[in-house]
Amino acid sequence: MGEEFPSAHAGTQEWPAPEHGAGRPQYPVVNAHNEWDPLEEVIVGTVEGALVPPWDVAMEATLHRRELWDYYQQFGGTPWPKELVDAAEKELCELVGILEAEGVTVRRPTPFDFSKPYATPDFEIRSGCHASMPRDVLLVIGDQIIEAPMGWRSRFHEHHAYKELCKEYFIKGARWVSAPRPQLSEDSYVAGFEAPNEGEPMRTVLTEFEPLFDAADAIKCGRDIFVAQSSCCNRLGIQWLQRHLGEGYRVHEVEVYDTHPMHIDATFYPLAPGKLLINPERVRRVPEMFQRSGWDILECPEPLMPESHPMFTCSRWISMNVLMLDEERVIVAKGEDTLMRALRDWGFRPIPCSSYHFASIAGGFHCATVDIRRRGELETYF
Ligand code: ARG
Repeated sequence: MGEEFPSAHAGTQEWPAPEHGAGRPQYPVVNAHNEWDPLEEVIVGTVEGALVPPWDVAMEATLHRRELWDYYQQFGGTPWPKELVDAAEKELCELVGILEAEGVTVRRPTPFDFSKPYATPDFEIRSGCHASMPRDVLLVIGDQIIEAPMGWRSRFHEHHAYKELCKEYFIKGARWVSAPRPQLSEDSYVAGFEAPNEGEPMRTVLTEFEPLFDAADAIKCGRDIFVAQSSCCNRLGIQWLQRHLGEGYRVHEVEVYDTHPMHIDATFYPLAPGKLLINPERVRRVPEMFQRSGWDILECPEPLMPESHPMFTCSRWISMNVLMLDEERVIVAKGEDTLMRALRDWGFRPIPCSSYHFASIAGGFHCATVDIRRRGELETYF
């Protein structure tokens, strides 16, 4: 092994004392316990080479805009229009510039060709999708990177774009595991599923055939991890996570209402100690522990993105998919002035960044990133 990295046993040793003059403790290379400790290193996704996800069983269940489904059916597996990709990548460059100017180390995925069709004993699919949303794929909890099983067949191999980074973090001492690789067979999905209309009882496309979740179905708050069932995350997935994390953690299921549920971070988001941001249309009941511990429940204001803006992947509520740099600094989509004003009133310092093109084909700042290291310890906030 080259000598560039410390010994592979580094993770089991005592961490070195602060470097002279640094005056602050040094944390393990991977260290993220919540959404708000000061951010030191982050992976930012890319839309280079991004493909329209190929149409598949789980898509109707997760994509809000029915009028755009035809587009997927027709163009799934082919590149998104170049102008859109270029505009989205420009926004990601703006995000990287802001992060670096704020002192955060930014890493990017390895270019990966998603266009190859693949098959397993249980399914075949025309292509993969993209490496634009590392948050969906890698669940970082403490010093551990968990590769999520993934609910969409087209995302089964998305981890590949992050293998170089994961290997590097592993060599530098991080724990790195993969949740059980799912079968994603016909038995994993409800046959003949139809997404509910607004007001009909919530249902998801997943059966309980095997544990399933995407990394972004969970959100961290120290020893308490919040997860919502979705069309990428079932009860067995939540149970797997609890049992895997063990006694040091409590995994709580949050009751949400969403006609096309996928990922918790445009729905329920602990932004800082004592401050929980919720989507007023989706959160049915805030877990009692928040009121009991005196948290402020902040209702996200109505998004300002025009209804007519093309949103292929997510909804306008992606406005609440912000990224915390610490307990105060928060990256917010340019154009979302009402949210920025509200955040200021709640004691935050919003930093605007463009993102509406990225939002068309992918998501928000939380989706586009995954925290590798924040300066802080494992704590409990309840
Ligand atoms: N399903 C959410 C919505 O449409 C978007 C969540 C995106 N999050 C993510 N990590 N990709 O509002």
